Amino acid sequence: MTVSPSIAVIGAGYVGLIQAVGLAKQGHSVVCIDVSAERINQLQAGVPPIYEEGLEELLGEVIAAGRISFSLEVNSAAECDAFFVAVGTPTEEKTGNANLGYLYTAVDDISQIARKGAVLVVKSTVPIGTCERLQIRLDERVPEKNLSVVSNPEFLREGRAIQDFFQPERVVLGGADVAALNKVREIYSVFDKDKVPFLISDWFSSETIKYAANAFLAMKVTFINEIANLTQTVGGDIEIVSKGIGLDSRIGEQFLNVGPGYGGSCFPKDTLALATMARRHGVQQQILEAVIAVNDNRRYMILRRVEDILDQKLRGRRVAVLGIAFKANTDDVRDSSAVSIIHTLLDEGAVVRAYDPMAKYETSDSNYQQSSSVEEAMDGADLTLIVTEWDEFKNYDYNSQLASVGQAKILDLRLSLKSRQDELSDWDLNFIGINSLNNN
Ligand SMILES: NC(=O)c1ccc[n+]([C@@H]2O[C@H](COP(=O)([O-])OP(=O)(O)OC[C@H]3O[C@@H](n4cnc5c(N)ncnc54)[C@H](O)[C@@H]3O)[C@@H](O)[C@H]2O)c1
Repeated sequence: MTVSPSIAVIGAGYVGLIQAVGLAKQGHSVVCIDVSAERINQLQAGVPPIYEEGLEELLGEVIAAGRISFSLEVNSAAECDAFFVAVGTPTEEKTGNANLGYLYTAVDDISQIARKGAVLVVKSTVPIGTCERLQIRLDERVPEKNLSVVSNPEFLREGRAIQDFFQPERVVLGGADVAALNKVREIYSVFDKDKVPFLISDWFSSETIKYAANAFLAMKVTFINEIANLTQTVGGDIEIVSKGIGLDSRIGEQFLNVGPGYGGSCFPKDTLALATMARRHGVQQQILEAVIAVNDNRRYMILRRVEDILDQKLRGRRVAVLGIAFKANTDDVRDSSAVSIIHTLLDEGAVVRAYDPMAKYETSDSNYQQSSSVEEAMDGADLTLIVTEWDEFKNYDYNSQLASVGQAKILDLRLSLKSRQDELSDWDLNFIGINSLNNN
């Protein structure tokens, strides 16, 4: 039997669902609410609507323990003391700002049913100043309820989200009400204080930490991709260059892997939102704006390399795209570089067959088809493009495919096959960031 919940999580997406299941596993009694009936039905049946390693088992465990329930009705959270809000804040197409429509709707709904003294914890990534504005809104609309807003940005990485929930590198909280901050701190008291740093600050600093962290990581990715353009043209091996840079402890090795450009549900929208917000305040972030522009152009750098390999003839040529998700171990295709590369190829008249172990992508272009295996995607291909770093592509037996491809050409945007060059010597193997003359 499910005990009455003390914590509500609003939004059962990548962030909300992990938060809800994670808190339930830590012993809290949680209700997770979403506006999507399909999502809630699936979750009530113990089926995760997203792919995340280990999620299905954990979900089954906390459902069986009676510590989690799922609902379409915010009313079912009326007895809760804390509401973790994890709804989407996607890019507003016209302005580049974060669209706060879902957040405001969720907060207004909560304000109607919450009991006195409840805390609203904002996990969604929101522009600097949002939490303060939410607090003012609540104080004006339901002053008698003394609701408090706490900022608690999320840093999980899709693909290792469960691990990130249970072993966060830090917990950031921001707010103006010490009692509310302590209440959230208490909810997270399971985390070992000696192992998990807690940063308690004001709303503004907390919100800025989230955007600045993503902007910095996007900058690292973009930086190495630009250096890769140089090694590819002038000479050198970007993998060794990355290692040589990253071994400097002031720089660090992470996020220095060459690739198709950053994508996903966070970096593109958060970099754009931060740059837009800064412009609005008259403090243009020039580095960040350059990062966005360079990353946007990355697909054309890749297109040029594809054209070189295919002797400048792309129209009507068959390209197998391996990987649709924005990175390995997720099914998320939001703002995926693979998707923008697919469209860039289609715009040039190529015929694209894409395959991904988990992600799905459809478009009405008749030159595009999603295949159900690597084999099917590569059948008849003039070029195979490795875009996402799935293990399946690292380990695939490409030699078994030699007879069925149109041309034995591979362009590897993740350096997945670099250690297998001898074994794949019958292939014309090209790596991004490495001049084709140095390839073999
Ligand atoms: N996905 C990530 O890796 C990640 C990491 C850190 C931060 N974030 C941030 O967390 C937030 C959520 O991201 P996500 O990837 O989980 O989004 P998502 O789209 O996967 O999930 C959002 C969920 O909220 C639901 N929803 C919308 N309005 C609602 C309402 N009024 N009441 C109840 N449910 C509602 C949607 O139906 C959806 O299921 C965003 O601000 C994002 O920037 C995401």
